[in-house]
Amino acid sequence: MAKYLVQNNGPLRGEVVISGAKNAVLPLLAATILADEPCEILDVPPLRDVDVMCRLLRSVGFDVVEDYRVGRVIVSPQKIINDEVPRELVKQMRASILAMGPLLARSGRAAMASPGGCTIGARPIDLHLKGFRAMGAVTTESADPDAPTVAEAKQLMGGRVYLDFPSVGATENIMMAATLAQGSTSIENAAQEPEIVDLANFLNKMGAKIKGAGTDSIRVEGVPSLHGATHTVIPDRIETGTFMVAAAITRGDLTIHNALPNHVKAITAKLLDCGVSVEETDDGFRVRGDLQPLNPTDIKTMPYPGFPTDMQPQFMAFLTTVEGSSSVVEKVFENRYMHIRELQLMGARIATEGNNAEIQGGYGLKGARVKATDLRAGAALVLAGLVAEGVTEVSNVHYVERGYADFTGKLKRLGARIEKVED
Ligand code: UD1
Repeated sequence: MAKYLVQNNGPLRGEVVISGAKNAVLPLLAATILADEPCEILDVPPLRDVDVMCRLLRSVGFDVVEDYRVGRVIVSPQKIINDEVPRELVKQMRASILAMGPLLARSGRAAMASPGGCTIGARPIDLHLKGFRAMGAVTTESADPDAPTVAEAKQLMGGRVYLDFPSVGATENIMMAATLAQGSTSIENAAQEPEIVDLANFLNKMGAKIKGAGTDSIRVEGVPSLHGATHTVIPDRIETGTFMVAAAITRGDLTIHNALPNHVKAITAKLLDCGVSVEETDDGFRVRGDLQPLNPTDIKTMPYPGFPTDMQPQFMAFLTTVEGSSSVVEKVFENRYMHIRELQLMGARIATEGNNAEIQGGYGLKGARVKATDLRAGAALVLAGLVAEGVTEVSNVHYVERGYADFTGKLKRLGARIEKVED
């Protein structure tokens, strides 16, 4: 198993280019199942999760060409030979569930093992299934965790779906399935994340009729078929936020290219609250944590446009370095505090009660042996290691590599001391 050795090498300075968004490219790839013709996706980041989604597409019968030298994936439709997604792929990546809506719409049946929980929470799929049923599908779940969940409908029909929580994945799955339903579908209390808008833009290029993506009310007029399209993935707003926080935590000065200010407003607002300078440039930001002493702040994670749960661990790592008392409230996942124990091993003073965390910052972090418990927790520990005294060993780095393209390379070019070593 590989680990990172991270050492404090002073403030990060320089320029970094943000990659295409992991959470956008996964649904885009799943959506290619709906097309009758080849689709081309550009600015695809070289990530393990992307590769898993490509394997999934092959497993159901599609021809997929991945070329990461130019960041391009071409998916060519064949006859769907398998409407059952291999269990091994679903277990490796929860986002495999995003293939269920397209498979159901395209082949009349989709079967998939339950993705199950993960370290950050239970992560059920009830809202996805509720949406499929609202479009006339019959869903079958088994008490046996090894038996797949099945959704079937010869022809999906338009329906009305109200989501009890604005789930990103459920909104995407239902929106994709609805493109080939007969009649119109409405999704109320829909998630509004930029990745949903990106997916709707791609589907509309393929001939779908979707309105309202990016609001809480999405309408989809079903069409008989979708054709091929070319689409460039939006920049990764969580990678952007992570490098913004890297500038702040190291009191550095970073110019971040290929970033969209509108997608990270909540992160920018909180950095500004702390006294970090964030200036928009032609294609991103210049972020400076070196201009004045920084202040503590309070954050609460919410569905978009609120503060993203996927930035909570990294921001918490930063707040441990700011003198004074800060608070964090996690409202999206019930168990997204696994990084706190690791930060405490590094000397951070954090007290928790339920989903509230109180941070007494400014006491200095010390290098320690810590474990990435999930993707963003791993990023937070790397950021903490950049300012800790001594060496920080971060294990389980395969999590980090699921979601950050060339993380160590990008950090090194900004002056960080970070090495990947095999255990
Ligand atoms: C997506 C992101 C993930 C991010 C999350 C929240 C991708 C590939 N992943 O995950 O990085 O952390 O959004 O911004 O885009 N829920 C239910 N029933 C359901 C579905 C979800 O109760 O059927 C609950 C979950 O348990 C969780 C909350 O809704 O508490 C948010 O989950 P959701 O928005 O669905 O996250 P994902 O789409 O899995």
